[in-house]
Amino acid sequence: MLIKIRKAWDSLREGDATAESVFLDRRRLMKIAAAGTVLAIAGCDGEDAMSSDASSSATPGATPGAASGTTAAADPSAHLYPAARNEAFTLDRAVTDEQWASTYNNFYEFGTHKQIWANAEKLPVRPWEVVIDGMVAKPMRLAIDDLLSRVQLEERLYRHRCVEAWSMAVPWTGFPLGSLLAMVEPTSDARYVRFETFNNPDVASGQRSPFYPWPYVEGLTMAEAANDLAFMVTGVYGKPAAPQFGAPLRLALPWKYGFKSIKSIVRITLTDQRPVNFWQDLSPDEYGFWANVNPQVPHPRWSQAYERVLGTDDRRPTLLFNGYGEQVAGLYKGLEGEALYM
Ligand code: MTE
Repeated sequence: MLIKIRKAWDSLREGDATAESVFLDRRRLMKIAAAGTVLAIAGCDGEDAMSSDASSSATPGATPGAASGTTAAADPSAHLYPAARNEAFTLDRAVTDEQWASTYNNFYEFGTHKQIWANAEKLPVRPWEVVIDGMVAKPMRLAIDDLLSRVQLEERLYRHRCVEAWSMAVPWTGFPLGSLLAMVEPTSDARYVRFETFNNPDVASGQRSPFYPWPYVEGLTMAEAANDLAFMVTGVYGKPAAPQFGAPLRLALPWKYGFKSIKSIVRITLTDQRPVNFWQDLSPDEYGFWANVNPQVPHPRWSQAYERVLGTDDRRPTLLFNGYGEQVAGLYKGLEGEALYM
């Protein structure tokens, strides 16, 4: 078993900081060992991953244009794009080159490296149903195109800060999560929203790995979910999202580390129980429920003070709440005792 530890961010390579190379918790290790599995935790800097200067301005290694273009053209919702931009959401930096954003992805269902886009193209995104249930007056099971016909799409420019200390800026298209929750009428008992990704090891080879607690799960408090920044994404770069981006429905939570922005959602459940998310389940000493961006609170194995901007040579200071403090800091008043930044 190989576990890599780097001492400082400066010596941190893209793959070393990758959430996949976590220290697996003892419980899981024992479970896997009991199953007779040989462990080789090599992180994401393996043969397929980009090199340590992956976020430099060099041309990305793969060319997904044809693949993602095909997906967009075949998508029955293509006519809904581009949606009008909501100018209330502005950036302090340039939008990341689409080629970079669409070839450098985290989607562990399709592999532990960054070049999963071609694998992800195997994900059938039609038909696709989303269930919204739990503590709601009007539970729903909606085909994605039915859902799209009930919402008003808009484009927003958002920053995205991965826990691995890289960042990007993306034009997402979608609708506020709050508008979706309003449709199902949450009951007063609901305290959290739990999100779940598909589980289909036949197409998502990563889901055959026993290391991970599939399906991918995430969670928010009701107050976080109601915040206007919490955005359900259906498209990006002015067209339907390609599978590597989390088609046909993902979250974008720009004030939190990127792992909270769950992809390819099939179920949204309102509950009074705080959800245990995928990474927290895997490595509770390193990943928590809140995961708000804070440059002052290092990951146990690297600093969060700076970030490398994908597709550029820019290395810039990370901002508290990723720069969205004005909109979200109030959500955490009175919660100072919680591990808000892991
Ligand atoms: N959602 C699912 N279902 N599976 C994943 O592996 N990775 C997360 C998040 N959502 C992930 C996921 C992480 S760690 C990040 S940084 C973002 O997706 C990456 O989004 P991007 O590939 O669009 O940049």
